[in-house]
Amino acid sequence: MPSKLPFFPEQASSFAGDVDALTLWLIGMSAFFTLLIAGLVVIFALRFRRRSPDQVGTKFDESPLLEITWTVIPLLIVLFTFAWGAKVYFRLYRAPAGAAEFHVTGKQWMWKTQHPTGQREINELHLPVGEPAKLLLTSEDVIHSFFIPAFRVKTDVVPGRFTTMWFTPTRTGRYHLFCTEYCGTEHSRMIGWVTVQEPEAYQDWLASVPVPATLRERGEQVFARLGCAECHGGTGGRGPALEGIAGREVELAAGGRVRADENYLRESIVDPGAKVVAGFLPLMPSFRGQVDEEEIGALISYLKSLPEPTTAAAAAASESVIR
Ligand code: CUA
Repeated sequence: MPSKLPFFPEQASSFAGDVDALTLWLIGMSAFFTLLIAGLVVIFALRFRRRSPDQVGTKFDESPLLEITWTVIPLLIVLFTFAWGAKVYFRLYRAPAGAAEFHVTGKQWMWKTQHPTGQREINELHLPVGEPAKLLLTSEDVIHSFFIPAFRVKTDVVPGRFTTMWFTPTRTGRYHLFCTEYCGTEHSRMIGWVTVQEPEAYQDWLASVPVPATLRERGEQVFARLGCAECHGGTGGRGPALEGIAGREVELAAGGRVRADENYLRESIVDPGAKVVAGFLPLMPSFRGQVDEEEIGALISYLKSLPEPTTAAAAAASESVIR
């Protein structure tokens, strides 16, 4: 229904219906109470107006029943709205485990995207219909914001960290994407298109784009170039073994635990002293400036591809790494 309203964009993702229903509820509720209150103001003003110059107002005692009513009903309404909003929010911000990962990098003033299989695009993103897509977004300079109205998804793109977004495109077609954070002179031209295709057409498209290396392969090259394996190679190294580390909880030297998600891995590359893994010394130098955002993304993609250690020796080497 909402897509028939001219002021709503097309509904082209699994979230569009949820977000629109919640928006319509908020608009409808606001309109209802605005009309109710404005109407009552007018009716009461007419009904209880002063009818003669010598008329004196009557004393009005407070009515607990009335007060409880106009407190409890709005409370129930906002609690219901909160619960509904929280449900939609959690769905929007928790990507399913199997979603294909696309990397998006914002820079003044363009969007660079990369597919899991390595294909790169600028101000364009091709996606297969019906398959969940997770976007890992970061910026090379200032804060941008990635917005696809037809999918009802929007996320700030912040330098120095990753933000994520996910959705399942439900209809083929071309959909506008925007930068929605004022980021300089050509902010208004930082726009592009998302092309949603049937899976076979998407595969054909992938095959038509030359790929120098997949993201994982690129990460492996960077890993070798920087000599990471000298300290992180297997057992007894100066740094923790990295097999299976991505996504796992690690115990920290300073106490406490942290999940080794994309932001933790990123921080450990550019600011290794921030959260040292228990059992290791803060020996690692920062690689800030030696790797750009795309290389960090590639390294993380590579780390995610490393399998869990299987032998007892490998497990012992990472005993400080808690599952
Ligand atoms: Cu990037 Cu506005």
